[in-house]
Amino acid sequence: MSPASKTSPWLVLNNGVKMPALGLGVFLTPAAQTADAVRTAIQNGYRLIDTAAAYMNERAVGEGIRSSGVPRNELFITTKLWPGQYGYDGAMHGFDGSLSRLGLDYIDLYLLHWPVPTSFAATVQAYKAMEKVQAEGRARAIGVSNFLPHHLQALQNETGVTPALNQIELNPFYTQPASRAANDERGIVTQAWAPIGGTYLRNKNAVTSGADTPLEHPLIIGLAQKYGKTPAQVVIRWHLDHGFSAIPKSVRPERIVENFDVFDFSLSAGEIAAIDALDTGVFAGANPETFTADTYPTDIDAQ
Ligand SMILES: NC(=O)c1ccc[n+]([C@@H]2O[C@H](COP(=O)([O-])OP(=O)(O)OC[C@H]3O[C@@H](n4cnc5c(N)ncnc54)[C@H](OP(=O)(O)O)[C@@H]3O)[C@@H](O)[C@H]2O)c1
Repeated sequence: MSPASKTSPWLVLNNGVKMPALGLGVFLTPAAQTADAVRTAIQNGYRLIDTAAAYMNERAVGEGIRSSGVPRNELFITTKLWPGQYGYDGAMHGFDGSLSRLGLDYIDLYLLHWPVPTSFAATVQAYKAMEKVQAEGRARAIGVSNFLPHHLQALQNETGVTPALNQIELNPFYTQPASRAANDERGIVTQAWAPIGGTYLRNKNAVTSGADTPLEHPLIIGLAQKYGKTPAQVVIRWHLDHGFSAIPKSVRPERIVENFDVFDFSLSAGEIAAIDALDTGVFAGANPETFTADTYPTDIDAQ
């Protein structure tokens, strides 16, 4: 199969918009390497790119898109509003900034990056601004990230609108059954960040689970040998077989290609359940219960 003929399965969001299930993430991808990573991904079949205002690389994502040779309307671009720009006016300003840095005239999916429990009113006002940009046709779909079930409920109580998608930390070491169930009950697509255990790859010994990362776990290695695939491909397949969207990040062309070469096998129900059982219940990212704009101070407008 030539790389160009590979295609991700699609998921349908609750407003009917279609989204590729598998994409490229660019968190911690230095701006200088981002355009190359995005172009490499798109030229090898990726159609979904996940960035955020806080990643400080939206301009380079736009550059990668424009140099890819693939028409804009065949791509699905996600970006996120940083909590430092919450509130209605702040969100409008934040959206305009992302659109301008990306050099696009619409975003496919716009997300609230984190809930801010200590100023939830500003979180809700930001979401109301996102509803407005969606109504204007400047965002095709809107959603949230890192929302726990009670945050979803609180947002729904305030706005009456169900987010299209919730992007959460999710991999075989942190499987988030309660959040996934809350998303499913509401018809919200679950999208995995750190899908291959990214944060663990950077924080060895964060958990005691028989391996420092999901990619080093004997179960995953055994399945990789069985299918003639790599551990990362097995973990990405686990996401797709569950019906999740996943956005693995890499700056290395060979890994970008590897992470998308997952459409010629699938895991059995027993294998999926065995991987589910690797859950440690330990998260490696920030805590959505206590997140504030100061958790990672970021001056969005300075970029
Ligand atoms: N909403 C949020 O709060 C949030 C938080 C974090 C991330 N995200 C999004 O989710 C995306 C993915 O998460 P992530 O970047 O934290 O973690 P990840 O994709 O699970 O892991 C990325 C790490 O794995 C390495 N890697 C990539 N492919 C590999 C392979 N085939 N074999 C071995 N190692 C491999 C990468 O290194 P190399 O680059 O050197 O290959 C990098 O160190 C982000 O880029 C971002 O778009 C969202």
